Amino acid sequence: MAAWHRITAFSSLLQVGLLLLLLSARSSGRPLEKCPGDKSCQPPRPPVVLIPGDLGNQLEAKLDKPSVVHYICYKKTDSFFTLWLNLELLVPVAIDCWIDNIRLIYNRTTHSTSSPPGVDVRVPGFGQTYSLEYLDPSKRSVGMYFFTIVQALVEWGYTRDDDVRGAPYDWRKAPNENKEYFLKLQRMIEEMAEKAGGPVVLIAHSMGNMYTLYFLNQQPQAWKDRYIKAFICLGPPWAGVAKTLRVLTSGDNNRIPVISPLKIRSQQRSAVSTSWLLPYAHTWPKDKVLVQTPTTNYTVQDYQRLYSDIGFEDGWLMRQDTEPLVTDLTPPGVAIHCLYGSGIDTSEAFQYTEKFPDVEPTVVYGDGDGTVNLMSAVQCKRWIGKQKQPVTLMELPGNEHVNMLLNFTTVAYIKNVLFSP
Ligand SMILES: *[C@@H]1O[C@H](CO)[C@@H](O)[C@H](O)[C@H]1NC(C)=O
Ligand SMILES: *[C@@H]1O[C@H](CO)[C@@H](O)[C@H](O)[C@H]1NC(C)=O
Ligand SMILES: *[C@@H]1O[C@H](CO)[C@@H](O)[C@H](O)[C@H]1NC(C)=O
Repeated sequence: MAAWHRITAFSSLLQVGLLLLLLSARSSGRPLEKCPGDKSCQPPRPPVVLIPGDLGNQLEAKLDKPSVVHYICYKKTDSFFTLWLNLELLVPVAIDCWIDNIRLIYNRTTHSTSSPPGVDVRVPGFGQTYSLEYLDPSKRSVGMYFFTIVQALVEWGYTRDDDVRGAPYDWRKAPNENKEYFLKLQRMIEEMAEKAGGPVVLIAHSMGNMYTLYFLNQQPQAWKDRYIKAFICLGPPWAGVAKTLRVLTSGDNNRIPVISPLKIRSQQRSAVSTSWLLPYAHTWPKDKVLVQTPTTNYTVQDYQRLYSDIGFEDGWLMRQDTEPLVTDLTPPGVAIHCLYGSGIDTSEAFQYTEKFPDVEPTVVYGDGDGTVNLMSAVQCKRWIGKQKQPVTLMELPGNEHVNMLLNFTTVAYIKNVLFSP
């Protein structure tokens, strides 16, 4: 911090010097807007930190397991391999091995999760961009994620892993189990700001916005004033997403036919972040039926019963552990730009037959980006007038949740935030 004081003082000296130079240039009749070969004429480039969403960065695993669920599964590996995303692991039979490696085990005493015995999971590439540009290291376009944005930044003069960096994390967990991550994130932001001599722009997608809000809520205002120029929120699920109810109840294969929803359900339930993202009562109407069965209607007020009726009692504990983390939607205390898609069919409620919960539901659709309900994304509006920094909302009609990262409008908006004073 002290170093940055010096840099700031130094750069304001520079600015004064520059101003004098420009003034004298004007008096000598030279045009202001042209300064050939003079780099200081460029607008300053704020460093950028990218915070991905749920499933939004690679995970690696190393195995030395006491037992496996199928004879084809590896019991031991010599090194770390890509656990997410590797499409080869998601084919029939192999997927059983995969589920048994990526699932978490919840401990009711410590209210925390851990990998199964002999499974060591790590998050590769903190401070770098590769693990969130492409989820699949083979760079198949199916796993393309932040690539378009990072590539655009590079074209504007940024350098990967230097002034644009990624902050990947273990997205299976909620912030209460990622304390180390926030310390690393804080240190990285401070380092980048000190090096650049100015504050950082945070760009988050999806659940990454909830992570970032939690992080900013923990920081003193003076820290935010010093280190954060703006927070660009892409597809933020501030009030949760209805889709998670289906994920927990009957599993969701995201329409990948080879994956059985019921099979993947056990893994999806074990990820605490799924329960964290259930719709929140601060925004969802209290009488809105989210899950319907022939005998019961479940609203935001009936989660305890729902968890019990689907046979997932630990889930109710996970929800209680995580619900308070950002439920107040305390203003982030930094300049905010919220961009969100709309006009795409988005799951809003689920109707089950008497085979509940082991059956696919009939889906009732509403407005949103295909994943995040519009009602949830627009909650940034709560902060208008509640913080002194500006809050800007921008609806992107026709933009799907992940595809919005590839859209020219999004990229142009980011450029505008980065290069405006
Ligand atoms: C849960 O954690 C406690 C405290 O660390 C430990 O004693 C207990 O064995 C754990 N329970 C399970 C089922 O692993
Ligand atoms: C559930 O709610 C629907 C309306 O949303 C209603 O028609 C139905 O009778 C309710 N079912 C039960 C069991 O209360
Ligand atoms: C990009 O976003 C704009 C604004 O929402 C939309 O009009 C346009 O159709 C989108 N383009 C693509 C290719 O999705």
